Amino acid sequence: MDAIVIEGNGPLHGETYASGAKNAALPILASALLAPGEHTFRNVPDLADVRTMLKVLDTMGCESQRLKGKKQDTVLIKVPQRVHPEAPYELVKTMRASVLVLGPLTARYGRARVSMPGGCAIGARPIDQHLKGLEALGAEVDLQEGYVETRAKRLKGAPVTFDLITVTGTENLLMAAVLAKGRTLIENAAREPEVEELARVLNKMGARISGAGSDVITVDGVDELKPVDHAIIPDRIETGTLLVAAAITGGDVLVKRAAPEALEPVIQKLREAGCKVTVEGDGIRLVAGSRVHAVDVKTQEHPGFPTDMQAQLMALLATAHGTSVVAETIFENRFMHVAELRRMGADIAVDGHTAVVRGVARLSGAPVMATDLRASASLVLAGLHAAGKTKVARVYHLDRGYERLEKKLRALGAKIRRVKDR
Ligand code: EPZ
Repeated sequence: MDAIVIEGNGPLHGETYASGAKNAALPILASALLAPGEHTFRNVPDLADVRTMLKVLDTMGCESQRLKGKKQDTVLIKVPQRVHPEAPYELVKTMRASVLVLGPLTARYGRARVSMPGGCAIGARPIDQHLKGLEALGAEVDLQEGYVETRAKRLKGAPVTFDLITVTGTENLLMAAVLAKGRTLIENAAREPEVEELARVLNKMGARISGAGSDVITVDGVDELKPVDHAIIPDRIETGTLLVAAAITGGDVLVKRAAPEALEPVIQKLREAGCKVTVEGDGIRLVAGSRVHAVDVKTQEHPGFPTDMQAQLMALLATAHGTSVVAETIFENRFMHVAELRRMGADIAVDGHTAVVRGVARLSGAPVMATDLRASASLVLAGLHAAGKTKVARVYHLDRGYERLEKKLRALGAKIRRVKDR
């Protein structure tokens, strides 16, 4: 297993860029199942989760290939007329987003057999809403030996109101509805930019979707869809993470190829904390003062402050002047970075879904353990600020969602390297 070693080394300076959005790439790659032929997807980040999704598709009979050299961000996927509509346990257990094949398989092949995703470190993460949506469109859904099995002659459009807002639940239903007969109305839909991006790709394939990005999405089913050539939007969470790296070290960093409009809630919060954040073309520049001041934050569905940025912001607030209150409303167990930040001298008290963060002038380096994707990013950020050496173990968590983060940070002046760990 790899670890990452960081030594606090003063302010970061310079330019970097955002890679393609992981949480857009995953549903978009799954959507290829809806349209046989050769798809070209550009700006696809080379991440562990993306490799897993491509493996799931290849297991079904697709042929995926990442180009090399200058075009290494391009992935080609050949989808045959018939696929084997099953996502096996050994793949799904490593990445719950594999459930995103349920909608397309049921819509195009009339059946699917996908291993139930287990919970994960941040919460139980059930998929009851995904299944409710498919049943509303006429699919029969059974749970057998840990697998979800769906069957449908042809899905029929219908109104569906989610009991709670779910990003991949909305995406699964979108991908099922595009080939259903008739109109589907999705109410209480997720409004994340990645949902909007998926709808954009599906419409490019010939789907008829309107309202994506709002909480009511209308889909008029069509009989078939065609392959696409599409460049995926930038990753707003990676962008936010790089901006926090600038803020926590008192630096000045421009993140190019970013998506400023998708990051509004994070930009606002960083400004509130005293950072100067400006949009420069497709880039976002952050110039930090000497020390940020405390701000309160509550995670919410988009367009609220994203839960995927909560751990990273908390690392920053652990070094702020004053006391911040952080409320996590989306997942039931997304404070696992707190115990590790405390090892670095952070002063944080957790009470249920709320953390009270008393800023300290300087964190101190320590050996810490990554527990989940965004917690590992939070520990790397804290290490950039801390005096002395920080070693983050189990960085396979980090590799699920960041394309060699340490290379981007090193290019900005960070003293950071990847080492083999026992
Ligand atoms: C997506 O997960 C993202 N993953 C997550 O990013 C992100 O944290 C999350 O949305 C919230 O924004 C991808 O897009 C691949 P949800 P998802 O369904 O869709 C509950 C990262 O770090 N729920 O919106 O699985 C659920 O338990 C990852 O990149 C049900 O109860 O999240 C959670 O408490 C982590 N029943 C809440 O809703 C359901 O059927 C929101 O979950 C579905 C969800």
